[in-house]
Order: sequence, then structure tokens, then C-alpha cells
Amino acid sequence: MSRIALILGCGKGIGTTIADGFHSAGYRVASVSRTPRSYASDDRVHLTADFADPSSIEPLFEEVEKRWGNAPDVVIYNAYAGTPTRTNPLEVAPDAFVNNININTTSAYSAAFIAHKRNNNVKYIYTGNALNNYIDPNITLLGVGKSASAHWIQAAAKAEGFYYCDQRRPDGSPCYTGLRGDAHGELYLKLAESREQGEPVIVFRA
Ligand SMILES: NC(=O)c1ccc[n+]([C@@H]2O[C@H](COP(=O)([O-])OP(=O)(O)OC[C@H]3O[C@@H](n4cnc5c(N)ncnc54)[C@H](OP(=O)(O)O)[C@@H]3O)[C@@H](O)[C@H]2O)c1
Repeated sequence: MSRIALILGCGKGIGTTIADGFHSAGYRVASVSRTPRSYASDDRVHLTADFADPSSIEPLFEEVEKRWGNAPDVVIYNAYAGTPTRTNPLEVAPDAFVNNININTTSAYSAAFIAHKRNNNVKYIYTGNALNNYIDPNITLLGVGKSASAHWIQAAAKAEGFYYCDQRRPDGSPCYTGLRGDAHGELYLKLAESREQGEPVIVFRA
């Protein structure tokens, strides 16, 4: 039976390229975003959910198990929220802070918690950026969420199979734009299939 990848946050950006790569490698792929899409094959499905609400995560695992009989082998958390803070790092009201931290951290943690509970050999890969190491006052809330996630992922790596991945430009500077879906896809597939926990924070240049 082919392995299952669940890709949380999959749209026009790198998510779809990552999903295509796993599907081409023989995985059954369930992708998720707020926007509906449809696929014609039995081994590929797109589900809808809004990760602003962390309770949206568990039903996705239930749906995957109902459809394919097993828990995911690989969970990729790729969604993000980045309400800008261009004029003042504290300009955003606390309700937007909660929304951003739910999408960048709480739902990501919830996915890891549920994934590991249902399959303790699961590989969990989070699409990060450089904000676990850099302070950028223009995107304070994105930085809070990414750095919090980098923290618990490094702790969770003790249980094996947890990664925070950060694409950089060829010169090593933070990427911001120009993300390479193909480079993420190749790396994620390699991590999904590796037998040992490597360094949990992976900085790669592409
Ligand atoms: N390394 C770097 O420097 C760097 C630079 C840029 C981005 N990134 C990271 O790369 C990742 C992917 O970015 P991308 O622009 O390529 O986007 P993407 O692959 O399109 O994936 C993100 C998708 O998540 C979905 N999403 C967003 N909020 C959601 C929510 N509340 N609930 C459910 N789904 C939601 C969106 O679809 P819907 O709108 O349909 O929900 C969106 O298409 C992000 O984690 C981002 O932080 C890293």
C-alpha cells in the first residue's frame, strides 16, 4: 500500500509543487487549504479547512484515515499568516496576534500532536524561514509564529522525524521571495524517506 502525505497549506505557491512531487513519487496525497480544488484520481484529494481554528486539524486526519485506512506517513505544514507591521511592530491588535499565532504555531503544533499520536513513525516537516534567527519589525507576527514553531520542533525532534526547513538565497541571506517549490519538494521527499533524525533545523540554499 502506498504511503500517505498530508500537506497542510497548499495553494499556488510551493505547496502544489511539493504535493505534485510526492504524488509522482507514489504517495497518496491529501492537500488542504481554505480554497476548494478537485482532483480526478483516487490517490489525490484536496480538503478545505481554516487553520485559524486549531480544532480544524483533527477532522482532516479522520478524513484521511476514513478514505485510505491509515494515518499519514508524512505531514507537511506549509500554511502561514503574516499580518504586516510596517509602521510599528506593535500596531496589530491582540486578536490578529491570536489569529497569526494559531495559523503559524498552534495549528502546526496540533497537527504534530495528532500526527504523532496516530503514527509514532510519522515524519513532520514545517516550512519555516529565517525569522527564527532574525528580527524583522515589518513582520513581527510571522516571526513570533515561526520562531515559536522552530522551538517546539527542535524539542520534538528528540522523538525523531521533526524538521523546520528554511530556504535561503544562494548567498545565504533570508529568502522572503523567490521560494523554490522544486527544491522544497526534493528536500521534503528525502526527509520523508530518511531513517534517521538529522539536524532538525535545516537551512538550505536554492
Ligand atoms: N524561506 C523563506 O524565506 C520563505 C519566504 C516566503 C515564504 N516562506 C514560507 O513558505 C510557505 C509557503 O508559502 P507560499 O507563498 O509558497 O504559499 P503556498 O504554497 O501557496 O501555501 C500556503 C497556502 O496555505 C493556505 N493557507 C493560508 N492560510 C490558511 C489557513 N488559515 N487555513 C488553511 N490554509 C491556509 C493558502 O491557501 P488558501 O488561501 O486557499 O487557504 C496558501 O495557498 C509559508 O510557510 C511561508 O512562510 C518562506
